[in-house]
Amino acid sequence: MEHVNLSAYSNFESIDNFSNENFYSYCEHKLETCNKHIDFIKKHIFSDKEMDVCEIGSGNSKLLYALEKNMLINTGIGIEISESRHKFAEQFKKYIKSTKVQNLNQNVFDVKFDKKYDLFIGVDIVLQLIAPITKNADIDFLKLIFDNLKENGFLILELSSFDDILEQVNLTPIVTNWVEFPIEDPFKYLLSKIYRDQNRDIYWSKKFIKRDDFTEHTNINILRPYTKEEITFLLNKAGFQKVKIFDFWSQENDCDKYEYIILAQR
Ligand SMILES: C[S@@+](CC[C@H](N)C(=O)[O-])C[C@H]1O[C@@H](n2cnc3c(N)ncnc32)[C@H](O)[C@@H]1O
Repeated sequence: MEHVNLSAYSNFESIDNFSNENFYSYCEHKLETCNKHIDFIKKHIFSDKEMDVCEIGSGNSKLLYALEKNMLINTGIGIEISESRHKFAEQFKKYIKSTKVQNLNQNVFDVKFDKKYDLFIGVDIVLQLIAPITKNADIDFLKLIFDNLKENGFLILELSSFDDILEQVNLTPIVTNWVEFPIEDPFKYLLSKIYRDQNRDIYWSKKFIKRDDFTEHTNINILRPYTKEEITFLLNKAGFQKVKIFDFWSQENDCDKYEYIILAQR
């Protein structure tokens, strides 16, 4: 049976949930959230040559479009397994008039790479969603990236230690909580239920409540927590000897307290 993580985002950002007006303001809002990534890439990676960039788990491809807008890419490829997100990314592409970004609706492990990249990106816990899929998925994923990077090419990962969650599940075996989204979002609330499974991964069930009709949409993620030492060990094992870790993108508190950013170089 297919792992739940492979379909965890299967109805996410479904274009049918957006009126034209909401769609445009949502896209603009998403582009703005990429300013911190752009600052980071300009500061730590970009020299003066536009890059070939591959983003894995690219969602709506906002970061690739932001890179294009900032004239940082030569070509961009976004690999996203969710069909609804892929379709959203294609509409976003038309809206932004992107000419350099190609969106692939595939599982990253099925992609045939036909060239090498200057930069691979996996932001917002993508690795931690991919790791539980099979026994060695994390190391396979990192090796796949290493093998398809140009010499001196970079990998950016955004991870969470999930220390807050781990602390909570140590106190209460099943944790529940909720958040409210900003007005641009078609969903108003998210209710979560969290516990640690038999592999010590974090089982996280999310119930989204829609803003307009209060219908419920549930998805389940299983997430692998990594300490900074554990992820550094894995990166080294995959071939990355140069690994730096940052606690924020561009300025303090621009990511969650427990998130951190990996910059690894081939
Ligand atoms: C937490 S979201 C992050 C999306 C995007 N990077 C962002 O920052 O908004 C993770 C994404 O990875 C995608 N994903 C998970 N496993 C994947 C796989 N094996 N191949 C390609 N995409 C995958 C999911 O569908 C989801 O859209």
